[in-house]
Amino acid sequence: MDLGKLIQDRIRDVDDYPKAGVVFKDITPLLADHVAFAGVVDAIVNHHGRGTIDKIVGIEARGFILAAPVAYHFGAGFVPVRKKGKLPAATHEETYDLEYGTETIEIHLDALEPGDRVLIVDDVLATGGTAAATAELVRRGGGEIAGLSVLMELSFLNGRDKLRNLDVHSLVTV
Ligand code: PRP
Repeated sequence: MDLGKLIQDRIRDVDDYPKAGVVFKDITPLLADHVAFAGVVDAIVNHHGRGTIDKIVGIEARGFILAAPVAYHFGAGFVPVRKKGKLPAATHEETYDLEYGTETIEIHLDALEPGDRVLIVDDVLATGGTAAATAELVRRGGGEIAGLSVLMELSFLNGRDKLRNLDVHSLVTV
């Protein structure tokens, strides 16, 4: 099976969503295909091999869907990074720039143990702002970052430039 081709086939372009001029990459057809979904989860797990991973950090919202089964495979804990105001207890927060305005994301103060080996998982790497802010939250929480895995990288937005010190693994590049 050519996983890269299957992934490309199961990601749907939606024109003018969420606003005019944007082509949205919709992963719901991929998630609904059990072969594609399992293939993506297995590929992320296999990339990181047998190295010790203590926690999988998933980024709201679509990152959660991929991060949870990866955590199960590793026998690791799952930790959510969420948009500001969504986590109930005390948090670290990081603010980063969007095309227009800013976004703030949070992690619980006690989500990580000092020295935890952490794999960050999300669906899409675009400008890299979300991933870079998440990496900073993990460091502030005392974690050591084993890498970042994403389903899809939009390479024309140069997100890797913000993540030069990370092992960035993407399953398909657009
Ligand atoms: C999307 C995507 C990544 C982020 C990537 O999330 O799931 O988390 O944007 O963009 P960046 O590399 O330019 O920072 P979104 O903010 O749409 O959140 P959602 O999953 O909750 O809809």
